[in-house]
Amino acid sequence: MAKPKIACVVGTRPDAIKSAPVVLELQRFDSDFETVLVSTGQHREMLDQALSAFGLAADHELAIMQHGQSLAEITTKALGGLDRLFADIAPDYVVAQGDTTSTFCASLAAFYRRIPFGHVEAGLRTPRIDNPFPEEFNRRATGMIATHHFPPTAWAAENLRREGVPEDRILVTGNTGIDAVLQMAERHPEGWFADRPERVVLLTTHRRDNWGEPQRQIALAARELADRHEDTLLVVAMHRNPQVRETLRGVLEGHPRTMLIEPPEYERFVKLMQRSTLILTDSGGVQEEAPAFGVPVLVLRETTERPEGVEAGAAKLVGTDYTAIVTEGTRLLSDPAAHRAMSQVSSPYGDGRASARIRHVIGRALGVETPEAPPWT
Ligand code: UD1
Ligand code: UDP
Repeated sequence: MAKPKIACVVGTRPDAIKSAPVVLELQRFDSDFETVLVSTGQHREMLDQALSAFGLAADHELAIMQHGQSLAEITTKALGGLDRLFADIAPDYVVAQGDTTSTFCASLAAFYRRIPFGHVEAGLRTPRIDNPFPEEFNRRATGMIATHHFPPTAWAAENLRREGVPEDRILVTGNTGIDAVLQMAERHPEGWFADRPERVVLLTTHRRDNWGEPQRQIALAARELADRHEDTLLVVAMHRNPQVRETLRGVLEGHPRTMLIEPPEYERFVKLMQRSTLILTDSGGVQEEAPAFGVPVLVLRETTERPEGVEAGAAKLVGTDYTAIVTEGTRLLSDPAAHRAMSQVSSPYGDGRASARIRHVIGRALGVETPEAPPWT
């Protein structure tokens, strides 16, 4: 009898990083499943870089990325491409993570072809459908049609229950991003920036909600922090989006203690996070990973669908206001007790075994019994 075929769909850097542990876990059971890795190619270099950190490459690549394309163009190309591919390869199950447009399209293409869909990192919510834009819509729409929901935390599971998702469709797993970051930290023990004497302040920003003036305020505030604290080095890992780069370069290029760097491959980025004294970010994944290493995070957004880190005291939601970023950043860079209070909080996002839990549920849905990991609470 043919093995059940599972298609894992990725499109962007975070999709690759958070899906890689699931793909590797399914591949461990290759006598039970056929695992196919599908990329929409919403991202190009950043996606390949992230997959290759795990020794993975897509089996099917739709190559939809074009500079400056609209959200509707991403959606129509990804949806049409995935539909044709699913018709061709006939997967028994489709799985994808999070809130990107590639993930939303994977869920919809699976739904239209009546293929069961597993949503990894399900149930995160903000109160506003348009913030983060368009991710909150992507995530909620995917949640409406998913067969199985894999919320990373109890809070995310509760959001799903409130929306009427039946209990037997929900399993709290922890975040697969924590599986990924722990695997990387273990596999590549060498340091990065180890030879620099300065304290590192790491900045990443790419959110559409922050394009333009908010991002300029973020860059100005980060520059002010570097000016005020002469023992710090501001390292800016620039997203490949040309619009984001233009804003960051406009404010920070030429600053003596700022390094504007190309997005480091995942294993090096993990080392950079571990080496940092403070992280400023509007990234979803980075705000989850930093607490795993005890590095305080200032979240550069008005809302977050990841309140656990803020509630636990590992992260602070500061938005994009110049004064708020400078005030909080200065406090953490000059008051060791304030820094310690945030860095000693343990990670609320996972224990590194999320993918094993997901593999067990998918297997069972396909009539294959594989070992069960202990629950994550
Ligand atoms: C997308 C996701 C967002 C996620 C982010 C992770 C959607 C709608 N948005 O952001 O949820 O947080 O990815 O990074 O799904 N580019 C390259 N090379 C790359 C990647 C991007 O040149 O490898 C450039 C291209 O010009 C591309 C642009 O960046 O058009 C933006 O890519 P896009 O997929 O639209 O990114 P975001 O929507 O910003
Ligand atoms: N990341 C990386 N290199 C970078 C910046 C981020 O490998 O230069 C990793 C980061 O550790 C996290 C993921 O990319 O796992 C987050 O991606 P991004 O911030 O683009 O997306 P988001 O999480 O906001 O959707």
